[in-house]
Amino acid sequence: MTARHTGALGAFPAIRMRRNRFDAWTRRLVAETRLSVDDLIWPLFVCEGEGVEREVASMPGVMRYSVDRVAAAVRRAADLGIPCVALFPETDGARKTPDGEEACNPANLVCAAVRAIKAAVPDIGVLCDVALDPYTSHGQDGLVRDGYVVNDETLAALCRQAVVQAEAGCDIIAPSDMMDGRIGAIRGALDAAGFGHVRIMSYAAKYASGFYGPFREAVGSGSALGQGDKKTYQMDPANGDEALREVALDLAEGADMVMVKPGMPYLDIVRRVHETFGVPTFAYQVSGEYAMLRGAIDRGWMEDRIILESLLAFKRAGAAGILTYFAIDAAERLAK
Ligand code: PBG
Repeated sequence: MTARHTGALGAFPAIRMRRNRFDAWTRRLVAETRLSVDDLIWPLFVCEGEGVEREVASMPGVMRYSVDRVAAAVRRAADLGIPCVALFPETDGARKTPDGEEACNPANLVCAAVRAIKAAVPDIGVLCDVALDPYTSHGQDGLVRDGYVVNDETLAALCRQAVVQAEAGCDIIAPSDMMDGRIGAIRGALDAAGFGHVRIMSYAAKYASGFYGPFREAVGSGSALGQGDKKTYQMDPANGDEALREVALDLAEGADMVMVKPGMPYLDIVRRVHETFGVPTFAYQVSGEYAMLRGAIDRGWMEDRIILESLLAFKRAGAAGILTYFAIDAAERLAK
């Protein structure tokens, strides 16, 4: 034994929390939570063109891929053991309209990407976001009538969007629009179209957050939205109990998995949802969280171990998995 173990240690206090932290193998043995590659969903952006890999300025290291390039990126994710990817389109401004009809075009960017991925990388899950904002000229997630995002008329469009994505081969439909009743409506539409096996992960507790800024740059919905906001449908960051009602409704309507978004500032919600319902609860470490962490690491203000630490925190809070732009990076670190 080394010198630091000698002396009167042990007489007082009887309980020493530091014993279980004494060496690396003990720390491993008593660890309560673990982060694994199985917990990761990688969100990625798809853009027009051929041979394109274009970085998102506010998300260093995050690329937009043209359809011919996307499968290779996804192949890399699958080879690292990542179970699922999530797709988001940067739609050409010329294709955007007030009603976002492009969302329901079976040949749109997302559907083309799903087909390319399913053909080349059949062993990975594909999740598609359902909401109109990448396709509307005003950047709102739904149809706007007299300046208001109307609920029930939007539902019909979302149902068509979901079915078109399922037809392309999407495995998980993830409605991010926050309209009332959308999970039940989409479940019904999927079942009626013969897609009973397609899962729904609802963005159940999605907040009207400033942390989505870099994402809106990535898909080009931010400039369309301008000074507008999404506060009449996304949740007020002041509310926690309300998140439980949102989750309860989505589960009653048929959601298979639920999501809390953003992630790190909303860990209390992740925990409450997981403890209250005991259902697969996912957290989205959103674009602004990525930008904060990446920016600080790149400037040398923080060490890169904050990447795995931030993801482990979601597991400790009760998350079944995490959507994170760090997925590839994290998978590589976990494999070491
Ligand atoms: C679309 C959608 C958004 C995000 C995921 N789906 C943006 C928004 O609601 O404005 C944000 C994801 C991120 O910031 O990483 N409804």
